[in-house]
Amino acid sequence: MSEAASQSALSNLLHETRRFDPPADLAANAIATKATYDEASSDRLAFWEKQAKRLTWAKPWDQVLDWSNAPFSKWFVGGQINAAVNCLDRHVEAGHGDKVAYHWEGEPGDTRTITYADLTKMVCQAANALTEIGVQAGDRVMIYMPMIPETVVAMLACARLGAPHSVVFGGFSAEALAGRTLDCDAKLIITADGGYRRGAPSALKPAVDQACKECPQVEHVLVVRRTGQDVEWNEGRDLWWHDVVEKQSTTHEAQAFDAEQPLYIMYTSGTTAKPKGILHTTGGYLTGVSATHKMVFDLHEDTDVYWCAADIGWVTGHSYIVYGPLANLTTSVMYEGTPDTPARDRWWSMVDKYKVSILYTAPTTIRTFMKWGEEFPAQHEMSSLRLLGSVGEPINPEAWMWYRRVIGHDRCPIVDTWWQTETGMIMITPLPGVTSTKPGAAMTAFPGVSADVVDNDGKPVGNGEGGYMVITEPWPAMLRGIWGDDERYRQTYWSRFDGLYFAGDGAKKDEDGDYWLLGRVDDVMNISGHRISTTEVEHAIVGHPKVAEAAVVGASDPTTGQAIVAFVTVKGNVPDDESQGHAFADELRAHVAKEIGPIAKPRDILITPDLPKTRSGKIMRRLLRDVAEHRQLGDTTTLLDPGVVSSIAEKMPAGAAEE
Ligand code: WTA
Repeated sequence: MSEAASQSALSNLLHETRRFDPPADLAANAIATKATYDEASSDRLAFWEKQAKRLTWAKPWDQVLDWSNAPFSKWFVGGQINAAVNCLDRHVEAGHGDKVAYHWEGEPGDTRTITYADLTKMVCQAANALTEIGVQAGDRVMIYMPMIPETVVAMLACARLGAPHSVVFGGFSAEALAGRTLDCDAKLIITADGGYRRGAPSALKPAVDQACKECPQVEHVLVVRRTGQDVEWNEGRDLWWHDVVEKQSTTHEAQAFDAEQPLYIMYTSGTTAKPKGILHTTGGYLTGVSATHKMVFDLHEDTDVYWCAADIGWVTGHSYIVYGPLANLTTSVMYEGTPDTPARDRWWSMVDKYKVSILYTAPTTIRTFMKWGEEFPAQHEMSSLRLLGSVGEPINPEAWMWYRRVIGHDRCPIVDTWWQTETGMIMITPLPGVTSTKPGAAMTAFPGVSADVVDNDGKPVGNGEGGYMVITEPWPAMLRGIWGDDERYRQTYWSRFDGLYFAGDGAKKDEDGDYWLLGRVDDVMNISGHRISTTEVEHAIVGHPKVAEAAVVGASDPTTGQAIVAFVTVKGNVPDDESQGHAFADELRAHVAKEIGPIAKPRDILITPDLPKTRSGKIMRRLLRDVAEHRQLGDTTTLLDPGVVSSIAEKMPAGAAEE
């Protein structure tokens, strides 16, 4: 197949003709309209200034943006603000104390209803307790918790004191916790005895004890009792939350901090083994997350019930469970456990119970639901839903359509939101009252965000062409750097293209100029000189009616440079003998050839019961590449189930790379 023919086959796949217009009733009452785009494009900084004014400032700013020390930005220079006051006190003072902030549900079925007044008191008590323990503005505090209300309380208490928190996802190991605690030199770790997952208590405290052995600077460990399981106790160092927090006064005078006061550090993996501590500050971040949360989810705080089903241990939880929603006086649902406990309809029963109107989740979860089958959502009405969101990875059109039809009953618009830990806020997304959406496309830059897709030389590509996703102007919630490593910040994000933020994602502009995110550029394959995205091949494979999920990697190949290797899970029964497996693999190859072109046919297809995933649900393609290339497996410590990858490795045809 010629280069031109394969290019045209690729663009056919992205030549999506389906369009879904905003529902008329939503458009009629939408928070963001066409005029919002016009306003932002006529004066970007004035637009952000207007968004910042939705918050309550103790002192107004003198300058919206200082970019004189690029790539280090300062927003709302000279302004003073307290993030916790903006999420809590100001709402209570305005008479909304009785409004529910969180309908919280534990996995075993225990529930708590927490109003804005309740949450304010809890945060004041925790802030008083942290002060008593010796936490001061600027001190770093680690948070290693299950999905319980105290996690939010701990974060906001830190924010209230100007002490940046660093939340480490509860599924991470002691090793990972220790590395992060050392990197930011935290003296306090807030944790719990454990949490509930898949029907049983799982412990957290032992990992903290182990991490502390490597972190002599940790003075105290503050422990919430959640499960009641036995914990080892280090007298003098360990403190029970119920002893030191609950005796405190429920009032606390908050101090306002500089707009650029560090708010949190979120560690995320980069291309090297050492995770990067992404630094976010206060005023710009809160402006960015509250504006995007309000407009992207069309949040009407009086009537909506919003559920972001992420874990607070990830940036999505920070921006869209905690800071954005609370700043916007949202009523949220928060759930502790997994979607299959006690049964595979847990989420849908909660949607009905709390009358959830907005649901925000990840494609990997949607594909899991697809695999489980339509009968589970079908047991519930789900008539309260009016808007669905997706985040975390490219959503394949099949999953998008399934989400829309089976969960959204063909009624709810889908917002596919592209962003990163580093961007802090949603960057590329439809606006639900404005955008006519296409299944699989994140569509356009949020108002006030300047983005582009550029080629190898940093020049904007034309419509119908692919390249690298970049952000061309600073934005308020952007990372302010990598904790303790300015040089790595410059190198990672600002050295690839002069003056442009390099996101590390491949993207395409379609014929209309709308953006399609194609996955990390390190996932782009080069087969016989043809550039093919792993995502495009995955889209094709997942389009086969029998396939549940697929991960595609480029493995080095002596003839073609790279060869495509696909790992596939199927719906229903796995082909149970070798000849059936081969026949099905051939059927899939033919299917890919039909969808994209023979150039995109995988060399190897492995049918496997499961794919290796991180605890946040991302498929670990790096490990699959190791498998495909018969290499020693790399670091598997961040995997949900490290056993999955070794069982796949056993099945990989020997010497395939030499064929
Ligand atoms: C990917 C999560 C396509 C992307 C908020 C990005 C997406 C990385 C999307 C950041 C999307 C996130 N479409 N890809 N809608 N959303 N990504 O830091 O590769 O955990 O660079 O932030 O996820 O992941 P992170």
